[in-house]
Amino acid sequence: MQLIRVVLFGMGNMGRNHFRVLQSDPRYQLEAVVDPILDVLPDPAVPLLRTVEEALSLDWDLAVVAAPTELHYVIVKKILEHNRHVLVEKPAAGTMQEARELVQIAAERSLHLAVGNIERCNPVVGALRRLIQSGILGRLVHLTGTRAGGFPRNVKPGNNVILDLAVHELDVFRMLLGPLQVLNSIGHSTQLQDIFDTAEILVAGRQGATGSVHVNWLTPQRLRSIRVTGTDAVCTVDYIAQSCEISGLGLRERALNLLPELQWLESQGPLDRALLPVEKQETLKIQLDQLHRFLSGREHHLATHEQLVESVHLVEQAVELALQRTRPLVETGSPVELL
Ligand SMILES: NC(=O)c1ccc[n+]([C@@H]2O[C@H](COP(=O)([O-])OP(=O)(O)OC[C@H]3O[C@@H](n4cnc5c(N)ncnc54)[C@H](O)[C@@H]3O)[C@@H](O)[C@H]2O)c1
Repeated sequence: MQLIRVVLFGMGNMGRNHFRVLQSDPRYQLEAVVDPILDVLPDPAVPLLRTVEEALSLDWDLAVVAAPTELHYVIVKKILEHNRHVLVEKPAAGTMQEARELVQIAAERSLHLAVGNIERCNPVVGALRRLIQSGILGRLVHLTGTRAGGFPRNVKPGNNVILDLAVHELDVFRMLLGPLQVLNSIGHSTQLQDIFDTAEILVAGRQGATGSVHVNWLTPQRLRSIRVTGTDAVCTVDYIAQSCEISGLGLRERALNLLPELQWLESQGPLDRALLPVEKQETLKIQLDQLHRFLSGREHHLATHEQLVESVHLVEQAVELALQRTRPLVETGSPVELL
C-alpha cells in the first residue's frame, strides 16, 4: 500500500499522542493538523489549519479525529462526505443512530471507518483472549472491570464518565463475551451538576456470563484492570502494567497441555499462580498498525461496522439506565453511621 497521507483533527491530550505515533510510523505521512485554538505544533514543518473546511480543500487519504467527543458526529460525517477514510476517537458518536448513519455513509462510499477503542489493541487483551481460548479458565462466569482516574481538566456538557471511561470496558467485554445486554447502570454526579463522575454498569452475554464495570473520575491514581472469573481459574489483567496473572487450584497440571508458556510464581498453599508472558508495546502504535491492516484489506481487530455501532449503543444504554435509576447522594452533614 502507498504512503497514507493523514490529517489530524484536534491536538489536545489525545491528539498529541496521535501526532507522535503518526510521526514515528513511516507508513503514514502527516499532512496537516486542524485545531481552532492551538498556537504551535511540536514539528513546525507540519501545517496547522484552523477549520475542517480548510483541510477538506486539500488532497489526503485518512483523517484521525481527536476533537472533543460532542463534535465527532458532525466532523466525521463531513469528512466521509468528502470521501476520506476515518479513524475517530472513542466514542465514535453521541448516539447509536448517529453511529449507524456514519457507518452507512462509509459503506455507501466504500470508505474505511474505525473507532479508536484502543484497549482492544492492548497486547494484554490479546493475551487474555489467548488464555480464555485455551480453556484453562473453564467456563466464563464473570468479568469485573475497573477504570478510574482523576477528574478531566474540562468536561463539556453531555460528556460523562460512562462515555469517557466505561466505553473501553464495555467494548472489551463485548470482544470477550459476544453481544451484550446492559442490565443495569447507576451513576453519581458528585462534582458537577448532572454530569456522572462515577458509575456501575451490569451487563450479560448470551451464554449467561455477566460483567460489571466500575468507573470513576474521583480516584486520584489511574486504575485500569479486569478480573475474569471462570469455573476453573481466575485471571487478573492490568492494562497499564500489561500484565496477566492467573491463579487456580491444580493449575500447574492442567496448564502442561493447555498453556505451557505460563511462567510460574510461588504457590500460595494449594493455589497455583502464574503469569502469561505479554510482549509489551505502546497500544496506540499497535492501533496504528491495525489501522494499516484495515486500510489495506487485511484482517484486523479494530471496532468497525456493526461493532462500532454496538459500542456506541452499549454506552448509550448505560447512560439512559443511569439517568433513570440514579438517586442523589444524601448530604447528612455528619459522618456515616455504620450499623
Ligand atoms: N482512546 C483513549 O484512551 C482516549 C484518551 C483520551 C481522550 N480520548 C478521546 O479523544 C478525544 C479528545 O479528547 P482530549 O482529551 O484530547 O480532549 P482535549 O480537549 O484535550 O482536546 C481536543 C482538541 O480538539 C480541538 N478542537 C476543538 N474543536 C475542533 C474542531 N472543530 N476541529 C478540530 N479540532 C478541534 C481543541 O482545540 C483541542 O485542542 C475525545 O473524544 C476523547 O474521548 C481517547
